Amino acid sequence: MRLNDCHNVADFRQLAKSRLPSPIFNYIDGAADDERTKGRNSAAFDDCDLVPNVLAGVSDIDTKVRVMGKEIAMPLMLSPTALQRLFHWQGERAVAAVAQQFNTWFGISSLATVSIEEVGERIKTPKLFQLYIHKDKGLNASMIERCKAAKFDAIALTVDTIVSGNRERCLRSGFTSPPRFTPASVLSYAIHPSWALNYMFREKFSLPNLQTHVDAGTNVAVSVAEYFNTMLDTSMDWKMAEKVRSDWGGEFCLKGIMSVDDAKRAVDIGATAIMVSNHGGRQLDGSRSPFDQISEIADAVGGKIDIICDGGVQRGSHVLKALAAGATACSGGRLYLYALAAAGQPGVERIVGKLRDEIDRDMRLMGVKSVAQLNRSMLRYR
Ligand SMILES: Cc1cc2nc3c(=O)[nH]c(=O)nc-3n(C[C@H](O)[C@H](O)[C@H](O)COP(=O)(O)O)c2cc1C
Repeated sequence: MRLNDCHNVADFRQLAKSRLPSPIFNYIDGAADDERTKGRNSAAFDDCDLVPNVLAGVSDIDTKVRVMGKEIAMPLMLSPTALQRLFHWQGERAVAAVAQQFNTWFGISSLATVSIEEVGERIKTPKLFQLYIHKDKGLNASMIERCKAAKFDAIALTVDTIVSGNRERCLRSGFTSPPRFTPASVLSYAIHPSWALNYMFREKFSLPNLQTHVDAGTNVAVSVAEYFNTMLDTSMDWKMAEKVRSDWGGEFCLKGIMSVDDAKRAVDIGATAIMVSNHGGRQLDGSRSPFDQISEIADAVGGKIDIICDGGVQRGSHVLKALAAGATACSGGRLYLYALAAAGQPGVERIVGKLRDEIDRDMRLMGVKSVAQLNRSMLRYR
């Protein structure tokens, strides 16, 4: 299978699987416990059908939406994900370039492999920084200050990783950042020489937003679970979230909200957006899917805060369903990560283009001219 044979997220997943050492593929693809929530995140869309209206005169349609004060060209954003230069040597640079090309939000992780400053320089389109609250208060303050200086447009505080989820594929593979070559995993690196050569001879792997304060992840190999459980602050609460919002002072999103009560509290502390998310099923297995929660959250806080449906999105029709239920926009991680791992920037460009085209085509097939026309009368639950 080659790039031009990839027509959807599932095709890119297959190509990524063949190109990556298995510990790395399983880090991207895997989730917590029995991975029920990961499966449910996408399956939830199948429990709901679209009911189109026809003869709507759809020669000109408008796919734009406004999220956190910025107009973007399509209602699908690229979620922040860690360690991207491990998946392909072009890493965040490739994803940022594609986000700019399609004019949508791009997020970098606290555990990004390209610095806040470089991303700030590279793209003019809306960019957010995903913040993990560390025990090291100096590190938290430094990341917020760096985002201000680099003119980031928003901070998303992740609130669903108070402890690490139980990611059993990573336990089996011994995956760490930076990768540690163990007797069990060395063969899978050896049989993917192009990945191994890029890793060894391109720019040295690092986590530039953290390494000013911590060695773990850059110079000391740790699993992601160890990192979360030793570095992050388990005392994080609403007061702390509110303080981050006021220290930052700009557009502020809580990433990982699932309940109506928490969505209301997000409004109360002055957040401008929530990502309804279970971290792609990587944290609490058994959690409900984001799509299933959208209607009740939109009924409670719609119009007061932007609602981003994050996770499980694999098709343009999924985006339309979430928007019809009440979301402002959708976002996803694996949908572009498989493509990055499979083919670098051309891969990301191809999948984001395919999804943009699906959104455009499906809006016309639904008989809607603008995103605002999507509503619940167009949905039927099975
Ligand atoms: C490989 C990988 C790494 C991720 N790293 C982070 C991270 O560093 N911070 C964060 O808040 N979310 C992270 N996420 C979660 C994503 O931001 C997003 O919530 C999730 O991917 C959505 O589910 P989807 O992959 O089904 O689209 C990561 C997800 C994946 C797959």
